[in-house]
Amino acid sequence: MLGNMIGYARDPLGFLTRCSREYGDVVRLRFPGTLAYLITHPDDVEHVLVKNNRNFIKDKYTREELSVLGNGLLINEGDFWRRQRRLAQPAFHRRRVEAYGETMVAFTERMLEGWKGGEVRDVHREMMRLTLEIVAKTLLDADIAGEAEDIGEAMAEIMNYFSDQGRGSFLRLLPQSVPTPGNLRYRRAVRRLDGIIYSIIEERRRSGADTGDLLSMLLHAEDEDGNRMDPRQLRDEVMTVVLAGHETTAIALSWTFYLLGENPETEANLTAELEEVLDGRAPTVRDLPRLRYADAVIKESMRLYPPAWAIGREALGDCEIGGYHVPTKAQMFISQYVTHRDPRFFDDPDAFDPSRWQDGRTEALPAYAYFPFGGGPRLCIGSNFARMEAVLLLATVAPRFRLEPVTGDPPVPQPSITLRPRGGIRMKLSKR
Ligand code: HEM
Repeated sequence: MLGNMIGYARDPLGFLTRCSREYGDVVRLRFPGTLAYLITHPDDVEHVLVKNNRNFIKDKYTREELSVLGNGLLINEGDFWRRQRRLAQPAFHRRRVEAYGETMVAFTERMLEGWKGGEVRDVHREMMRLTLEIVAKTLLDADIAGEAEDIGEAMAEIMNYFSDQGRGSFLRLLPQSVPTPGNLRYRRAVRRLDGIIYSIIEERRRSGADTGDLLSMLLHAEDEDGNRMDPRQLRDEVMTVVLAGHETTAIALSWTFYLLGENPETEANLTAELEEVLDGRAPTVRDLPRLRYADAVIKESMRLYPPAWAIGREALGDCEIGGYHVPTKAQMFISQYVTHRDPRFFDDPDAFDPSRWQDGRTEALPAYAYFPFGGGPRLCIGSNFARMEAVLLLATVAPRFRLEPVTGDPPVPQPSITLRPRGGIRMKLSKR
């Protein structure tokens, strides 16, 4: 009756990895009332996300359970999704994103002013706060330093909710509408976020200013009949970029600092590059083409700990994947975590080795052996934003401070919607 529920619930990452390694590229899984397929091979991933994407919509857990995002860009489908994506796209255009670089570096420097050598800080918490402030400033022109604490607590509540119940609830036996203590806590956290998001929107609406940022684009957009977006839809879109736009990048940086702290040689290579390229000054977007090792460090960190560790889809019609028949309504489980550590594509797959991205070893990889931002039409809209932000933040922090893990057990990944380090990562700061 419970199918694979218990194995999965105990250890989602380990369970899925074992399934893939033991049973192959397409693994049929059973959960109460649900048939799911774990897809690992890059060609099959490409089939679902890109080549045959019209046969798939977002999986039922994402659609039904991620109610905090409402009907925002990450969830909606069809013509409405296309229209909303087109509306938001200009804010993520390469040129536009490059203009955000200065804010990213300035906010990081502001954070560093509060750091002292010898202190111990939770680097995950620091990064969450920093990336939140950056996304709010660049896309919504809002200063939310005062609300960062509140948002952080609500986010932690939401992520715990989804992870305790096993990624959105393969394991949920009661619907979200039943007032269980967990469901009530979740609703309270969503209400806290709602209050903040609605007040950002309201403030801009009152000021009437068109600052040309994403919020202005959304507020002033009109459909063919001249209608503006209704308040609920606006809230859903803003909530989506705020949540999708900070948690993931913060996680990428948190794991990166941890991995660097554990690998002094890699860290020394990085510092040498930063010294050579920056020579003591703050980085700018013009430095990015020369920060090749920093880029490889981020890439490698997201290979081992992909902040979005799984993508779900539902089949609209019967199809064939990797030689297997997949019926309508089957849930497709695609996991970056599992594919990124597949020894067929990455030698010594569990080792942190940024040089694999520079010495030609990864050149001949199939396109979807590495896909931290997904792919096809639903490719992350913020991928340029995030890649640039991650390298700039790393290049601002690393020359000023060395971060060492505080002795103790290594951080444990918490597979929720994202892959945060459970309980954060406490690191000791040393001034360079
Ligand atoms: C390291 C950082 C990031 C990672 C790993 C990441 C990962 C992803 C992935 C895998 C998807 C596709 C999900 C699917 O196909 O079901 C996605 C979609 C999305 N991401 Fe990101 N993301 C990151 C940063 C950002 C940023 C900075 C923003 C915005 C500022 C953002 C906004 C979005 C949105 C709005 C979507 C939905 C796009 C659509 O369906 O049209 N993400 N992201």
